[in-house]
Amino acid sequence: MKVFVADKLPQQAIDELKELGLDVEFDPSVTSSKLDQGLDDTDILIVRSTELTETFIQNSPRLMLIIRAGAGVNTIDIEAASNAGVYVANCPGQNSIAVAELTMGLIVSLDRYIADNVSDFRNGKWNKKVYGKADGLFGKTLGIVGVGQIGQEVIKRAKAFGLDIVAWSRSLTPEIAEEMEIGYADSAEEVAGQCDILSVHLAMTPDTKGIISKKVLSLLKDGAFFINTARAGVVDEDALYEELKSGRIKAGLDLIENEPEYKQGEVESRFQELDNVQVTHHIGASTKQAQLAVASDAVDIVRGYLEEGE
Ligand code: MLT
Repeated sequence: MKVFVADKLPQQAIDELKELGLDVEFDPSVTSSKLDQGLDDTDILIVRSTELTETFIQNSPRLMLIIRAGAGVNTIDIEAASNAGVYVANCPGQNSIAVAELTMGLIVSLDRYIADNVSDFRNGKWNKKVYGKADGLFGKTLGIVGVGQIGQEVIKRAKAFGLDIVAWSRSLTPEIAEEMEIGYADSAEEVAGQCDILSVHLAMTPDTKGIISKKVLSLLKDGAFFINTARAGVVDEDALYEELKSGRIKAGLDLIENEPEYKQGEVESRFQELDNVQVTHHIGASTKQAQLAVASDAVDIVRGYLEEGE
């Protein structure tokens, strides 16, 4: 059986796949458009960021299993896969801590102007007067939209910073919120109206598309921070741009619409003209710890699949 690994995966995982007796091809440079030509001889595909289209699935006759080495499956045409009888699995939870760590990093960086300090220093400037004006985080309210595994990891860390939490999630009830020692809100709007920092932790689905709407953003207090380490599509990016352009809020974003297709290269974004937004390069899941955990989960999925003979 042949496994194609289309994105970077730790060598340990590649070795373990080989130990399972599989023929493993590893090409982390393959692009989505190249994959569209199909993989004739591949039974199992392991993929991270590369987009998998209906064309790819239709052109890959032997494909039985796709594993997304990450949490989100929005880069895969699930409907096309299911129509073709291809099973799609993901690795949820394995990179939650990494994403939560970056979330906290963006919050601190916005408050203390860390990115601006660094950028000025590199340009030969020392600016204590300008950047020594942070509010501080202690006692502020962090609003969380989406209390899944990542949201929960963020809550744990935020509590250690002395932040109060108010949250909304489809599965959150007032009772669960009480047990978690956080405040309960009825909607994303209600969270936005109550917090100093709004952080979104939802998977990208048709239901969550644009859930951080113009209305939600307009409810944020002046000076609030908006953090997105989830998916670009969960926020109305035009509305976010307008709010940021007005200077009313600040944002820390790990994702933007139209990220360069393959991880590295030139990028053009309207956010580049704004100094109240800090953008990281979709690196939420990109720690060695998280990638080892994800890879080990991916290998377990392959092992389980072979054992079950599905
Ligand atoms: C995820 O869905 O978990 C991340 O997008 C994974 C990644 O960056 O590879």
